[in-house]
Amino acid sequence: MSSSPHVLPAIPERSAVRSWFPSLKSDFAFLENAGGSQVPGVVADAIRDYMVERYVQLGAGYRHSIEATKVVADAHAFVERLMNAEGIGKVVLGGSTTSLLHVLADAYMDIWEAGDEVIIAETNHEANAGSWAKLTKRGIVLKTWPVDPETYQCSLESLKELLTERTQIVAFPHVSNLLGEIVDVKAITDLVHEAGAKVVVDGVAYAPHRAIDVKSWGVDWYVYSTYKVYGPHMAALFGTYEAFEPLTGPNHFFIPKDSIPYKFELGSISHEGCAGLLALQPYLRFLAGREVDDRQTVESAFEVMTGLELPLQTKLLRFLRGKKSVKIIGLGDEGCNSVGTISFVHESISSIEISDRVDACNIGIRFGHMYAVRLCEALGIDLEAGVVRVSLVHYNTPEEIDRLIEVLDPIL
Ligand SMILES: Cc1ncc(COP(=O)(O)O)c(C=O)c1O
Repeated sequence: MSSSPHVLPAIPERSAVRSWFPSLKSDFAFLENAGGSQVPGVVADAIRDYMVERYVQLGAGYRHSIEATKVVADAHAFVERLMNAEGIGKVVLGGSTTSLLHVLADAYMDIWEAGDEVIIAETNHEANAGSWAKLTKRGIVLKTWPVDPETYQCSLESLKELLTERTQIVAFPHVSNLLGEIVDVKAITDLVHEAGAKVVVDGVAYAPHRAIDVKSWGVDWYVYSTYKVYGPHMAALFGTYEAFEPLTGPNHFFIPKDSIPYKFELGSISHEGCAGLLALQPYLRFLAGREVDDRQTVESAFEVMTGLELPLQTKLLRFLRGKKSVKIIGLGDEGCNSVGTISFVHESISSIEISDRVDACNIGIRFGHMYAVRLCEALGIDLEAGVVRVSLVHYNTPEEIDRLIEVLDPIL
């Protein structure tokens, strides 16, 4: 059977893309998207409409409650499609990636014994490090998977040396929110599975840029924050049925253990946020140039995002490379293997000063350790000033990068 060749979706005009985002009508350049992205107007409208029209508790028999229950169920189903999780596991929604990872670590603590081991990558945001590190108080052995300061990578060889028969979890980021490089999740997951352990992948810095595909990577757990993917302040944790099976979620004792995801959704999640999440669908359809809400639409929409983002990434990296006193933190890859999250330091000017001077020009960027404290320490980066981080997504424009370069050029 021959499979049909993959047809790249047409890239829409940037102006048409931006017209979906009310906040982009101003002349402010949002270049701090790794902190949080802007939302399409349809997302904001859906949150308002939900609160005006069906802001009631779930599970009752009257019309508003039936509609509200459906919104929350549909949001879970949509995120499952977004992560390509359908049929292999479930998605828990919650307030933040940090809180979901703490819930997960606590659930594991109930079944682990003293001496069991967890490996955390040094490239992690603290969300996927501190949630596991706290378990050392209960006798869990924590091992750090070190980053190589030359390559900015945590290598498979060094992971091999750390894995033992007591390893339960290897926790690592798909993309570091400081380095920007996409790691080979499948290769790491295969290695960890061979050792009989599970992976917890932080996809927060990956998800705004490429389509999540938990099925093809074979991961056990994968988490991302929806407020960085053009949606409301929430987060989503995928787990396979097998990964959930031994665990008991923290929700009330009378909720059955196998009531997944509800058992892991402590109290109420944001119902209006669920309405906002769902409203991302028409935007994805627009990007993909398709009329149906299916997996192909998700994949095509993210291909379009990549196509829009890559030239901006290249332009900024080439400018930074031309500055002798600038050190790019990370590989600074201009191709598909990195996302548009670009960090750098200057040999004599502090990141604080650079960032302040740029911010004053109606351009939003950021300095600091970005909560990747362990990574900054390993790389010898001053924790107070940290790096200057410019983070792009598909709705940014070449003109915005030109404006940034114009401001940075005399400073650097
Ligand atoms: C890579 C990464 N992981 C985790 C987080 C934490 O996300 P949340 O604010 O949803 O807890 C962030 C936030 O910036 C992040 O960049």
